[in-house]
Amino acid sequence: MQRQQTPHAAVQVRGLVKHYGSTKALDGIDLDVPEGTVLGVLGPNGAGKTTLVRVLSTLIKPDAGTARVGGYDVLTQPRQLRRVIGLTGQYASVDEKLSGTENLYLIGRLLDLPRKEARRRAAELLERFSLTEAAKRPAMTYSGGMRRRLDLAASMIGRPAVLYLDEPTTGLDPRTRNEVWAEVHNLVREGATVLLTTQYMEEAEQLADELTVIDRGRVIAGGRIEELKTKVGGRTLQIRPADPAELPRLAGAVAQAGLDGVSGATVDQDGGLVNVPIVTDQQLTAVVGLLAERGFVLASVSTHLPSLDEVFLAITGQKTSSGDSHAEELQEVAA
Ligand SMILES: Nc1ncnc2c1ncn2[C@@H]1O[C@H](COP(=O)(O)OP(=O)(O)OP(=O)(O)O)[C@@H](O)[C@H]1O
Ligand SMILES: [Mg+2]
Repeated sequence: MQRQQTPHAAVQVRGLVKHYGSTKALDGIDLDVPEGTVLGVLGPNGAGKTTLVRVLSTLIKPDAGTARVGGYDVLTQPRQLRRVIGLTGQYASVDEKLSGTENLYLIGRLLDLPRKEARRRAAELLERFSLTEAAKRPAMTYSGGMRRRLDLAASMIGRPAVLYLDEPTTGLDPRTRNEVWAEVHNLVREGATVLLTTQYMEEAEQLADELTVIDRGRVIAGGRIEELKTKVGGRTLQIRPADPAELPRLAGAVAQAGLDGVSGATVDQDGGLVNVPIVTDQQLTAVVGLLAERGFVLASVSTHLPSLDEVFLAITGQKTSSGDSHAEELQEVAA
């Protein structure tokens, strides 16, 4: 497969809109996925993730805006576009009556692979996803996780330049999830571009170079994971004195020093730490400098970024998505 020398956007989306009646599934989405990278699209239930993937796969037409994949326009060049993409939908799309091998072989043939190559590719992918033993059985006898893996294998048959993974590991056990992640890493190493939707923060951290957080059809935050974390939560400076008996005195010294932008210090007795919320490197330096000046002996100093879960909650937090409001309703009913 030929690839461009200069990195450019493999997926480019501008002002994308899709309404279902009064529901704004997509309400003006902009995003770019540079070639050879993984974009994680995070969002709560009903945010518009699957709708986005459907538009980018030419399965549904947008009401407004533009989207190009591999340089092809979703509206005017759907056939060319479909040739460069692979899709693993949120819901499995394999044929229940056919075996694993047959499913993959057929898809290979539909993609114009020669018979021998289709057979070889099917066997290779079954092996990669630990399905060799079940290869001859009809897919209807597979467990949920096995189906999911077969579905993923199916999306990879044609070595797509751009792969959409819509919540690829929902419902998978941790081992299988790791296998899927390893496989995605392999594909990216081979040069593929991936658009991944997920509700698992760990998955985004494992796979994504950049993140776009969407809610109610709109992009509400985006950037590299580290950037997002810093933007939202700042950092926590964790200071461990050599002598745990110094914890209260150390926390007091930091809290009362009046350093610019450093407002509090809390003692974590069990952890043997003092936690100081900070935002800038200057604040970090000032705190450490102050402690050195005051003669504290430190065993360790580290900074802790908020987890992606915390970031996500901070961004979408107050708003109730449709899923949350149902949860509230149920609580009311239960009360
Ligand atoms: N075919 C449809 N007809 C009517 N409304 C739809 C249709 N498809 C999606 N929607 C609505 O559009 C919104 C976005 O749905 P979408 O499936 O894109 O969300 P999602 O982010 O994939 O959610 P999930 O995490 O639950 O998969 C939701 O409010 C949904 O009810
Ligand atoms: Mg979805």
